[in-house]
Amino acid sequence: KRKVIIDCDPGIDDSLAIMLALKSPEIEVVGITVVCGNSPVEMGFENAKKILKQMNRLDVPVFIGESTPLKRDYVNALDTHGEDGLGESFLPEVPGFHQDRSAVDFLADILKKESISVIALAPMTNLARLIQKDKDALANIDTFVSMGGTFKSHGNCSPVAEYNYWCDPDAAALVYHTMHELGKTIHMVGLDVTRKIVLTPTLLEYICRLDQETGSFIRKITKFYFDFHWEWEHIIGCVINDPLAVAYFLNPSICQGFNSYVQIETEGISLGQSVVDAMNFYRKTPNTKVLTEVDVYSFFQTFLSRILDLEPE
Ligand code: BDR
Ligand code: CA
Repeated sequence: KRKVIIDCDPGIDDSLAIMLALKSPEIEVVGITVVCGNSPVEMGFENAKKILKQMNRLDVPVFIGESTPLKRDYVNALDTHGEDGLGESFLPEVPGFHQDRSAVDFLADILKKESISVIALAPMTNLARLIQKDKDALANIDTFVSMGGTFKSHGNCSPVAEYNYWCDPDAAALVYHTMHELGKTIHMVGLDVTRKIVLTPTLLEYICRLDQETGSFIRKITKFYFDFHWEWEHIIGCVINDPLAVAYFLNPSICQGFNSYVQIETEGISLGQSVVDAMNFYRKTPNTKVLTEVDVYSFFQTFLSRILDLEPE
């Protein structure tokens, strides 16, 4: 089994990503690290426990991470995810379960001992703090997948910036810079591909008919998200970004892309933009695999069959 850490800010789509990861037999989730993003970090921590409870997996450790971005003021995304961060499902709290270490200490400790993959679904503040604490730990990340950024698709926080990088641009910039220095690759699962992953009312209905319990849980946490998408983008359905990062980790052939040098803007009108040097102006070695195409059918085949325990394709 490949060991992974999920760094996240649950978050509706983060929750669906965690569900997919926990239902994937080829990976072992050794820890969930939470950071401020969609929800303040303490709320994200509570939400992670709620998902684990739903999945009957309270054995997976959850660690509380950074509560503010490196330099900028923190801006949450509760307008998108609801006042409880889980689509105003107001699920009961899951008591207890406080860990002895912070998320950053957990990451540093475990990556000192072994090479583990990281799937980052949130602003990269925990990872930036890890670099500041111990750069070598980052060198020990096996595969690094980041849901964030955008190449040709428009942003979701500004014309050019995606939320995870926009929320803490300094952290994202440091992670991309350091990965470049270390000669490692970030697999950038950005809006170019995640925008194509739309959970439609028909798909949700299908889930409900096949599995009442999972269906009504997903319905509960996505209702607010559906309404948000209709109000803001006139989309019937909701874009579920984060599970694509997990599905891509499980099977990279579901996405296509190219290798490039990427830098994150930390100032001005393009704050948080992932600047992709596709034409190689800077003559720098690539630090990123930028994904541009996704096989949507394949994604849903994996996602649905796993969360619903259907026979593998
Ligand atoms: C990203 O931002 C958050 O709102 C989602 O959870 C996802 O990680 C999409 O821009
Ligand atoms: Ca997220």
